[in-house]
Amino acid sequence: MSNENIKVLVIEDNPADAHLIGEMMEEYAPGGLDLKYTDTLSAGMEMLSQSGFSAVLLDLGLPDSKGLGTLTKMLAKFPGLPVIVLTGLADDSTGIEAVKCGAQDYIAKGQINWRSIYSAIRYAIERKEMAIHLQKSLDQQRTIVKGAVEALVGMIEMRDPPNAEHQKRVAHLAALIAERMGYPQDRVEFVRTAALLHDLGKSAVPTEILNKPGKLEGLELSLQQAHVQASYDVLKGIEFPWPVAEVVLQHHERIDGSGYPQGLDGDRILQEAKILIVAEVMDGMCTYRAWRPDTPGCGKALEEISEGRGKLYDAAVVDACMSLFTEKEYKLE
Ligand SMILES: [Fe+2]
Ligand SMILES: [Fe+2]
Repeated sequence: MSNENIKVLVIEDNPADAHLIGEMMEEYAPGGLDLKYTDTLSAGMEMLSQSGFSAVLLDLGLPDSKGLGTLTKMLAKFPGLPVIVLTGLADDSTGIEAVKCGAQDYIAKGQINWRSIYSAIRYAIERKEMAIHLQKSLDQQRTIVKGAVEALVGMIEMRDPPNAEHQKRVAHLAALIAERMGYPQDRVEFVRTAALLHDLGKSAVPTEILNKPGKLEGLELSLQQAHVQASYDVLKGIEFPWPVAEVVLQHHERIDGSGYPQGLDGDRILQEAKILIVAEVMDGMCTYRAWRPDTPGCGKALEEISEGRGKLYDAAVVDACMSLFTEKEYKLE
């Protein structure tokens, strides 16, 4: 971006400070910057919404707004805007707080010179552009991952529709449990993604074993249980933004160490896997399975997780799951 395209709004109520900034920039800044001025936050916000500014120099103490609130109000309305805060002399703590709140930089008023203003503005704009660029790449990566997940789910739907339905129900319940436990959206997505693919490896298990009525034993049981490792082996090759393959590998573990395939216990099991484990048990007992015509039902499933609370299943996960079924009348069908 050339300097001619850089339009900067200076929001400063002290005429002497505003005048000083203007004079310095006019005299020294290479190519000059297009500076506009105003002295209140409300007028500044109005100007920002009317025409395109590249950056803002913002005094925090204005007639209509004081302190960090001046910055947060501005960023709430213009989240992508590079803002450089002007602080009092030697007031680094306010400047640092402002950067933590989203300002790109701060300049102490007593140390103003044309170079500090000019470089702060240029850096702020460059950093913001880089952040936008990075966000675009991340969004692209997410789209690719989403496409890969949908393709895998589609493949399972073709080969084994009941398994695909099971994974979708588990994903729905697991995501709700994660939300109920206060997980941020990104972590909820992580749980949902792992749940959607957790039994992918069943494609490697012969159908006659998967659908064989009654309890499996010996080699048949080992082959059935090998679906976990098979899921892991496929998923570990995909670069998810989260450790999806590890969570999937743990979806039949129990916190007392009695699960499989690794017999992990306690906090050696990832928190996201602890959610998947409970959602898996709930769906396994609530819904119909070809190999077990007598469905235990949700009452029995809730008994199972509450009896195993803190022993087999993570207590916080059980509480969140119970509350969904009892308070929110959640149903698995
Ligand atoms: Fe499952
Ligand atoms: Fe499984």
